[in-house]
Amino acid sequence: MAKHSGSLLLLVIQSSSMSISTLLATKADDGATLLAFKAAAIGGAGNGATLASWNGSTGGYCTWEGVRCRGRHRQVVALSLPSHGLTGILSPAVGNLSSLRFLNLRSNGLSGSIPASLGRLHRLHTLDLSHNAFSGEIPVNLSSCTSLMVMNIRFNQLHGHVPSELGNKLTSLGSLRLGRNNLTGTIPVSLANLSSLVALELSFNQLEGTIPPGLGSIMGLYYLRLAFNSLCGQPPASLYNLSSLEMLQIQGNMLEGSIPADIGTRFPRMAILFYGINYFTGSIPTLLSNLTKLQALDLHDNCLTGYVPHMQGRLQALQRAALSSNMLEANNREGWEFITAMSNCSQLQQLFINYNDAFTGKMPISIVNLSTTMQILNVQDTRISGSIPSAIGNLVNLNFLNASNTFISGVIPDSIGKLVHLGMLCYGNTNLSGQIPSSIGNISMLTFLDAHHCNLEGPIPSSIGKLKNLLALDLSMNRLNGSIPKDIFKLPVLSSNLDLSYNSLSGPLPSEVGSLGNLNNLFLSGNQLSGVIPDGIGDCTVLQRLWLDNNSFEGSRPQSLNNMKGLNELKLSMNDLSGKIPDAIGSIRNLQRLYLAHNNLSGPIPLALQNLTSLSVLDLSFNNLQGEVPKGGIFANIVNMSVTGNNKLCGGIPHLHLAPCQMNSVKTNRRGHMKSLTLALAVTSALLLLASVVALTQLFRKKLRQKQKSPLQPQRV
Ligand SMILES: *[C@@H]1O[C@H](CO)[C@@H](O)[C@H](O)[C@H]1NC(C)=O
Ligand SMILES: *[C@@H]1O[C@H](CO)[C@@H](O)[C@H](O)[C@H]1NC(C)=O
Ligand SMILES: *[C@@H]1O[C@H](CO)[C@@H](O)[C@H](O)[C@H]1NC(C)=O
Ligand SMILES: *[C@@H]1O[C@H](CO)[C@@H](O)[C@H](O)[C@H]1NC(C)=O
Ligand SMILES: *[C@@H]1O[C@H](CO)[C@@H](O)[C@H](O)[C@H]1NC(C)=O
Ligand SMILES: *[C@@H]1O[C@H](CO)[C@@H](O)[C@H](O)[C@H]1NC(C)=O
Ligand SMILES: *[C@@H]1O[C@H](CO)[C@@H](O)[C@H](O)[C@H]1NC(C)=O
Ligand SMILES: *[C@@H]1O[C@H](CO)[C@@H](O)[C@H](O)[C@H]1NC(C)=O
Ligand SMILES: *[C@@H]1O[C@H](CO)[C@@H](O)[C@H](O)[C@H]1NC(C)=O
Ligand SMILES: *[C@@H]1O[C@H](CO)[C@@H](O)[C@H](O)[C@H]1NC(C)=O
Ligand SMILES: *[C@@H]1O[C@H](CO)[C@@H](O)[C@H](O)[C@H]1NC(C)=O
Ligand SMILES: *[C@@H]1O[C@H](CO)[C@@H](O)[C@H](O)[C@H]1NC(C)=O
Repeated sequence: MAKHSGSLLLLVIQSSSMSISTLLATKADDGATLLAFKAAAIGGAGNGATLASWNGSTGGYCTWEGVRCRGRHRQVVALSLPSHGLTGILSPAVGNLSSLRFLNLRSNGLSGSIPASLGRLHRLHTLDLSHNAFSGEIPVNLSSCTSLMVMNIRFNQLHGHVPSELGNKLTSLGSLRLGRNNLTGTIPVSLANLSSLVALELSFNQLEGTIPPGLGSIMGLYYLRLAFNSLCGQPPASLYNLSSLEMLQIQGNMLEGSIPADIGTRFPRMAILFYGINYFTGSIPTLLSNLTKLQALDLHDNCLTGYVPHMQGRLQALQRAALSSNMLEANNREGWEFITAMSNCSQLQQLFINYNDAFTGKMPISIVNLSTTMQILNVQDTRISGSIPSAIGNLVNLNFLNASNTFISGVIPDSIGKLVHLGMLCYGNTNLSGQIPSSIGNISMLTFLDAHHCNLEGPIPSSIGKLKNLLALDLSMNRLNGSIPKDIFKLPVLSSNLDLSYNSLSGPLPSEVGSLGNLNNLFLSGNQLSGVIPDGIGDCTVLQRLWLDNNSFEGSRPQSLNNMKGLNELKLSMNDLSGKIPDAIGSIRNLQRLYLAHNNLSGPIPLALQNLTSLSVLDLSFNNLQGEVPKGGIFANIVNMSVTGNNKLCGGIPHLHLAPCQMNSVKTNRRGHMKSLTLALAVTSALLLLASVVALTQLFRKKLRQKQKSPLQPQRV
């Protein structure tokens, strides 16, 4: 302690001698200092013109862009070059602009450290170095800028502690913003001394420890952001004394305790209240509804329990409420009244109640009376049941509706087609039944439609082909039947998934499938699709995963398969494919998983497969393959490879326990291999290879097989 005050004394002496030299420096030409600034900062291309225009005699510096002077001695009082593409470093010479009051260099690319010499700018009232690439620590010397009212150095790469000296000396400071850096250590208790502070922002750092109770004495504070640090403990009771607060963001920490029951009487001006992503317990106080200016409430990802108070209807300004990921409760008897009350919130846009396991019982019909300003409604992963009210179409501005992983049942109402702004519609893994209404084709903004794993039945409405903005469609695991409407394949921007697997779709795969030139994943497994795999599929040039397994495809050689260079997963198991596996399959360079089990494939296993270094799973089981099993590559380890159920195979690694190959049969096999290799060389494209897989199926034997899962088939749930 003694040592500490000793060095403090030394600092005081040094700084007073310093201010004498600062005084001398005033006599130095501010123009020369500006040229030193220019020399260190590099004007980027285009905007570099700014600094280039700082030319001619230094006498003219008061007219240079961004410079303002005052007084007979033409002292620089302001240097303001925000968003001017400056890079390089900030010259320490700036500390010589002794009359500087305003320094704004925000939104440039300046790097290096913040010069400690800025501490000599005793008249500086605004320092804005935000949105740059400054690194190093915050210089303690800044605490000598005793006139500072605004210090904004957020969005840099500063590390180290928040200097406690700032709190002791910058008594005029009104706004202190240090967010979005890499600051560590605790929040200095000395900040409580900044009694003029109205805005304090320390969000997105790695600060730890508790929130200093002293902050609760800065009575003018209206803006307090401590979000996304590692703060712990309970927020101090004094915080609730800050009756001027309009924004309190403490989300994304490790804070605990409960939200005080009288919170509603403490913050008469509160507009933004964020407690999310912490460990808060207890219930949501009823009096919260007395925060009548509240616009955004975030309580998500805590451990809150009990019913949501029904008084929320008094929050007339509320636009966004996030209550997700808690243990909040509602059932058929009680708890859902808050939804009815919220129909009063005439500006409500977003309501998140998802991930609350104890939200049970029927979806309140009054949900359709929520404000027409609603844009996001998320009830996913709750245990809500009942049907979708037919008046859901009232919420005309909805653009996101997720009810996946719930017990919602009944049919999808026709009125869903009125939600023309809907971009995301998710009903996956629910108890929905009946047919998909063709009105769905009216939701022209839809980009994402998920209704997988429900009890939907009947045909896929061809009106889905009108959804010109659809990027992904998942109707898998339902009881849809009939053929696949051709219009689906004409969806112009479908690029993520088309998943119709595990339904009862029948008939051929239309050749229009080739129009899906942007599609990454095509999943048609587990249907009753039959006939040949059409030529056109080769035009799906960016396909990564193609699943056609568990169908009745027979195939005849597709004529024009182009390069599916990105293909990394091909599932053709459990069809009626026959003939040889072409050697050329070895040229699908990215192939990682290949499933050909339970077909009638015959002939030798192509040696080329052992050369596919990307291959990590290979299932050739239950075919009629013959000859020697290779020993290299994927064949070296039985864990990710299966050849069982092929009675005419021999050799391979000992683990396979196959009979050794007869000398002459080996020779035959080699000769056969050489032949097909020659053939392979003649065939250039990887897709032709794929084509030939399919081609071999010409010889298929029509036979009804029991479709059992092969050992390496990943289970879909
Ligand atoms: C000096 O700056 C002026 C604008 O202030 C500009 O027109 C002129 O081209 C510049 N001269 C040089 C040599 O860069
Ligand atoms: C500030 O001015 C003094 C006196 O002119 C000079 O010696 C010193 O180098 C300047 N400081 C910087 C950092 O340029
Ligand atoms: C920083 O402050 C200390 C103490 O006041 C002083 O000795 C030192 O010269 C200052 N540094 C600069 C670069 O001004
Ligand atoms: C900031 O800290 C994070 C996490 O410790 C680290 O990943 C990141 O690289 C750091 N950034 C800088 C600019 O130091
Ligand atoms: C507040 O500042 C005074 C002197 O200005 C100092 O004595 C006191 O320790 C400071 N308080 C805190 C909490 O740092
Ligand atoms: C809140 O303010 C009141 C009145 O100014 C004061 O008596 C009380 O101690 C403060 N509470 C806390 C926890 O700081
Ligand atoms: C909450 O608001 C209601 C209605 O304005 C009012 O009657 C009640 O007194 C308030 N409660 C508190 C504790 O301020
Ligand atoms: C709806 O708002 C009115 C005032 O605009 C208020 O009187 C009423 O109590 C509110 N309803 C609910 C359910 O909160
Ligand atoms: C919706 O609001 C209207 C008008 O206020 C009312 O008549 C109707 O009963 C409400 N419907 C539900 C389901 O609450
Ligand atoms: C909807 O909810 C489901 C279930 O939790 C989730 O998997 C899916 O990603 C969500 N969809 C969107 C678009 O957020
Ligand atoms: C949902 O469907 C499953 C299976 O069809 C059924 O067992 C379950 O009882 C249904 N649940 C509800 C809430 O309808
Ligand atoms: C496998 O790779 C080796 C070495 O790259 C090459 O000599 C051989 O011809 C390849 N075999 C097949 C069947 O592609």
